[in-house]
Amino acid sequence: MTTGGHHQQQRHGHGHGQGHVAYDPSSLHLSDAFYGGVYQEIVDWLAIPSGAQALEAGSGAGGFTALLAGAVGSSGSVAALDMTPDLLQTARERLEQSEFKDRVSFHEGDIQHLPFEDDRFDLVWSSRTIHHLADQLVGAREVLRVIKPGGRFALREGGLRPRFLPSDIGIVEPGLEDRLEVAFDQWFQKFVREGDGAVRYPYGWPRLLTDAGFTNVSAKTFMLESLPPFSDTQAEFMLSMIKRWVDNEERSAFINGDDSAAIKRLIDPHGPDYAFNRSDLHYMEGLTVYTGQAPS
Ligand SMILES: C[S@@+](CC[C@H](N)C(=O)[O-])C[C@H]1O[C@@H](n2cnc3c(N)ncnc32)[C@H](O)[C@@H]1O
Repeated sequence: MTTGGHHQQQRHGHGHGQGHVAYDPSSLHLSDAFYGGVYQEIVDWLAIPSGAQALEAGSGAGGFTALLAGAVGSSGSVAALDMTPDLLQTARERLEQSEFKDRVSFHEGDIQHLPFEDDRFDLVWSSRTIHHLADQLVGAREVLRVIKPGGRFALREGGLRPRFLPSDIGIVEPGLEDRLEVAFDQWFQKFVREGDGAVRYPYGWPRLLTDAGFTNVSAKTFMLESLPPFSDTQAEFMLSMIKRWVDNEERSAFINGDDSAAIKRLIDPHGPDYAFNRSDLHYMEGLTVYTGQAPS
């Protein structure tokens, strides 16, 4: 997320962008499945005209790409761009099985140097990707360059982070998820934003879009909420959200021993405190989409 960086990430050697984060296709598949309903809501809200030429910048496992391909209709097209070859392949395999495969092209590349001519697209969609760029402003300006005058950029970033536990779960000090939010910010700063050559932009997304040259910048937040019973996909995704704090060394360093012990109890399906034996879970998240227009 990283509207909360829901996907599993690992630090590794050097690559493109900031060069430190590896993206795991299976966790991106899971998040595509989990967010499928709200993604469709977002695509409907975008009211993409049929025949539109769209770009998805950072297409990941291709879940949103498939929805965009449906929305642009048979006379439209979607270019799916990602810097990670494995993910591009994952997205390609996904789209090959869809009725829309002929509308989608795949491009390996870096958003900071897009391999497209000026004024090529009516719409650029980018979800949870711009925050990974070494220079977010350079990326946003590149996006503007390839959008036709009057075309739109829709950017999913920020939002309200997910949570699903009651404040007092009875096995640790109240406020576990509040503490995880603080830990998340610390982890994110260290492992996502502090890569080699990362430029710091200590202000919010509306300003970044405005500084990049977009006009009519606005925001809309799509609320996602669910009560039990949860589907297997929902439960798997929710478990992954808390598991990552104990099974990933980078993250576990940011939480205290009591919280770590409580999370281990919550994720143990054979123990008395297994989260999915509770009837009081309530999943809530806000997915924010910022939009900006290329000047006419
Ligand atoms: C957190 S994932 C999000 C994937 C998908 N958009 C989603 O919301 O599930 C970030 C994606 O951005 C891609 N990415 C990161 N930096 C990039 C860059 N500089 N240029 C192009 N893609 C990049 C990664 O390979 C990965 O697919």
